Amino acid sequence: MADAMSASGRTTTPPPNGPGERALYNKAEYAGRKAVVCSPRRAAAVLVLVFLAVLAIALVAAFARPACLPSTGVVGPTTVAPPVATRPTTADGEPFPWDSLRLPPAVLPRRYELLLQPNLTTFAVVGRVKIQITVTQETSFIVLHSRNMTITKRELHTSDDSVNVSITRLLLYPERDQVYLSVNESLQLGQNYTLSFEFNYTLREALEGFYLSHYTAANGSKRYLATTQFEPNAARAAFPCFDEPQLKATFQLAMVRHESHTALFNTPRRSTADLDFYLGAGIKQDDFFETVRMSTYLVAFIVSDYAHISDTTDGNVLVSVWAPPHLVQQGQFAAQVAVSVLDFYTDYFGLPYQLPKLDLVAIPDFAAGAMENWGLCTFRLTSLLYEPSSGGSAIQQWVTRVVAHELAHQWFGNLVTMEWWNDLWLNEGFATLMEFIGAGHARPEYHMGQQFMLEATLTALALDSLRDSHPISVEVTDPDQIESIFDTISYSKGAAVLYMLMKELGQPVFKAGLNKYLRRHSLGSARTADLWAAVQEAAAEAETPPAGDGPPDVQAMMDSWTRQKSYPLISVVLSAGRLTVRQAPFTQLPAVGARQSDAPLWHVPLSCRLHRRAGLLAVRLNGTASVTVSAPRQSAWYYCNVNKTGVYRVTYPADNWAALQQLLLAGSSHLSVQDRAAIIDDAFSLNRADLLNASVPLRLSTSLSREAGLAPWAVSRRHLDWWLQLLYDQPTHAPLQHFVRRLIAPQYGQLGWSEQGSHVVRRLRALVLAWAVSVRLPEAVARARTLFSDWRNAGLPVPPDLRQLVYSTGVEYGDTGDWQFVWQRYLNATTPTEKNSLLRALGASTDPLILEHFLRISLAGELVRSQDFVLVVESTAANQAARLRLWRFVRLNWHKILDKFGGGTFMIDNIIQELVSRFSTQLELEEVRAFFDGKDLRSASRSLRQALESIQLNIRWRGSHQAAAAAWLEDWSRREAAGAAPPTARHWPN
Ligand code: BES
Ligand code: ZN
Repeated sequence: MADAMSASGRTTTPPPNGPGERALYNKAEYAGRKAVVCSPRRAAAVLVLVFLAVLAIALVAAFARPACLPSTGVVGPTTVAPPVATRPTTADGEPFPWDSLRLPPAVLPRRYELLLQPNLTTFAVVGRVKIQITVTQETSFIVLHSRNMTITKRELHTSDDSVNVSITRLLLYPERDQVYLSVNESLQLGQNYTLSFEFNYTLREALEGFYLSHYTAANGSKRYLATTQFEPNAARAAFPCFDEPQLKATFQLAMVRHESHTALFNTPRRSTADLDFYLGAGIKQDDFFETVRMSTYLVAFIVSDYAHISDTTDGNVLVSVWAPPHLVQQGQFAAQVAVSVLDFYTDYFGLPYQLPKLDLVAIPDFAAGAMENWGLCTFRLTSLLYEPSSGGSAIQQWVTRVVAHELAHQWFGNLVTMEWWNDLWLNEGFATLMEFIGAGHARPEYHMGQQFMLEATLTALALDSLRDSHPISVEVTDPDQIESIFDTISYSKGAAVLYMLMKELGQPVFKAGLNKYLRRHSLGSARTADLWAAVQEAAAEAETPPAGDGPPDVQAMMDSWTRQKSYPLISVVLSAGRLTVRQAPFTQLPAVGARQSDAPLWHVPLSCRLHRRAGLLAVRLNGTASVTVSAPRQSAWYYCNVNKTGVYRVTYPADNWAALQQLLLAGSSHLSVQDRAAIIDDAFSLNRADLLNASVPLRLSTSLSREAGLAPWAVSRRHLDWWLQLLYDQPTHAPLQHFVRRLIAPQYGQLGWSEQGSHVVRRLRALVLAWAVSVRLPEAVARARTLFSDWRNAGLPVPPDLRQLVYSTGVEYGDTGDWQFVWQRYLNATTPTEKNSLLRALGASTDPLILEHFLRISLAGELVRSQDFVLVVESTAANQAARLRLWRFVRLNWHKILDKFGGGTFMIDNIIQELVSRFSTQLELEEVRAFFDGKDLRSASRSLRQALESIQLNIRWRGSHQAAAAAWLEDWSRREAAGAAPPTARHWPN
């Protein structure tokens, strides 16, 4: 059963050991720009080009043709261009004189003046760009970016137009999207020039660059819109530009559009004119105000027939949500969140939002979840639109988080931008942290602290204990690497280590550091070290130094977390009035060939709570293997990493593990909801790493029968469901399922099926009921099925929080008629989140013929949008009855999948993470290896290695821990049968 937190299409329930939550999809590859066969549209473009060339400008053809040719060395749809060979050459075999991914530093763009005329009937785009450049070193050439467009004219003048510099050569290197211009006389140091291009291309549903999307209007007609997605490097597909994040400039746009459309840009519209040339045809030109200095990847423009709703912040920023007219009212919720969060951030960062307006736009075809374009954020429909009568608490929370995330980027990322993509983690890790802080401000009832631990810290810990993890900071030397760093490590581990620093310094010092950093680099670029420097200064200036021995060395501490992969397992021993703390790297499989002496070390802030000791004991390991501090002689128990603020796991001697179990089972108020979840998560993870007996996590799980906190439930479900999945064909499966049913029973009874209670109670209800159905608690299954048939037969609406569960149960236990009913509802649904729930439910079928049919029509793409195929993969991979069929389908349709998703890695990554990492037998391991052998997966290759490691761990667990689990369960059920009263529910604080 799909987890409730699934509004976005992101995976939100990672396997406890598998590759884990991917923060998002691999955007740019989705569009298939490196697809090796020419699409019909591209082929048509070539014909036009050839025609043009014959007609007039031979030069044009010379540089336009290569844009459509396969990359060098490509021979078939599964192979991908090798990394750039020693010397770059143009498609014509001419040497391309510039050999670097990075542009030369001699020329800097200052201002872009852009005119665009997209035609939403023919999809043709005609454009002109004038780029004012400054020369910082005398040079006789310019290199900039352009991709897949025809350049019909190029000119270079001095800025005052007095001298025309002739461009003697124009060469293209499609592999790196570079254009090389040589000039007949050197460009002079300090001089300003204007470089102009005229260009054209065709809008496609490419999901990147300036691309086409569509929706169905209330009257059934098909409406087109043109929108942009530039990050990380697709601005160059919309207009020729210097497409690197640190090459900031201002942008001015003039957009020609039909009067029935609205054009949006980063800044507000300044004026609109009738175009005399087109008089009577309803063609207008909108001129927009010039932007502030910004990166190309943050530029955005949209032409649509959307409607909007607006509101104003205290700081007088006009916030609008734009959507298809029939959906726009569903934007009310997001607008409200945006207004609240924008004011909050202004205060939090100590700097105002820089623009007079902020538009949030719902885009029907969208590869990522959302994008932070400055002043013009774009979203998947399901990340922005919320309809209270059908959307549950999980969806509402998701919308809040996404808005809070993209708004945080308006400062962190937009105002101050990473100098190069290797510091991307700072952008995304930071926005992920603020996602929770901002959402927590807008909606305190969400209890975002628990969510942060679950989705950032624990997700990062799960992935980062694999051998094939990687450090947060990575070198980026080719475009595939840029793609591949938008991952769990950048997002979740990035957020978790920033949070650890914030907790170590205290929020006021951390905020003061951020403020220094943002002011110092405002409208400019920065590196990770610049942030540490600013935070260090703030720590030094703070009046009251944080606990311990003065402020830490921020750079040294953070380097230890960002420059090496993995994280430590901290062992804590209290003995004879001394608390000894040791660190060693934690990996699930033993690290290969590592010697103890060169094991990595971290700067670890640790807080411990000891029985009968007031307050917390702070201990710090400053890059040393161990430290000993004095502590109370007598302590019945001790617990470290209070509230799980540190990015590591902790273990203790057996007697303290036993004492902590007692504490947990007794419902002690010494443990916060985060602590309870963290103890359970650490125990399961240590067991998976072969370091703890299976009986410990099992025994800890029995605390669920009294648990009312969301986080302990969520982690327990994550792990126990994983065990159930590993044991699906084993005799231990039934006793484990029985055990889970017994754990659930008390809360199940308390929560009931009617939607009431706080946000957290609703989320807990959705989780517990879904779990109850998935472990086949008879009354839960019956109830869900009744709700389904009441909906199907009597039209009774299902309570929003239970929809996913009820639809999926209806399909799982239903017949073809039920599946068809849900399918029809899916086709007709207009509310985006409802459509998602229905699509996911369709993957819950157990009927092989239906599943085959479902996979086939989903991949065909007419009835299921390409962006949503991932939901199909997720739901069928999680369905025991469908998993092997999906695997077979993927293998049989490999070429189709590659073609459709452009040979890119986005969908491949998803398939690997969702499906492959769940396998648990030697046979499957070999099958996976054999299938992928020789296939170049580009940026998904790390995911494959991680999935293979996950399978090995699954196999090992089945082999070495199953027996202990079985023995413990047998003993437990004997005691239970002997009359140990079933535990009663009791409320912990949430
Ligand atoms: N900047 C990203 C979107 C992005 C990522 C674009 C990679 C191109 C390449 C955006 O801020 C983001 O992180 N979006 C998330 C949603 C967020 C709430 C985690 C996403 O798309 O999943
Ligand atoms: Zn982001």
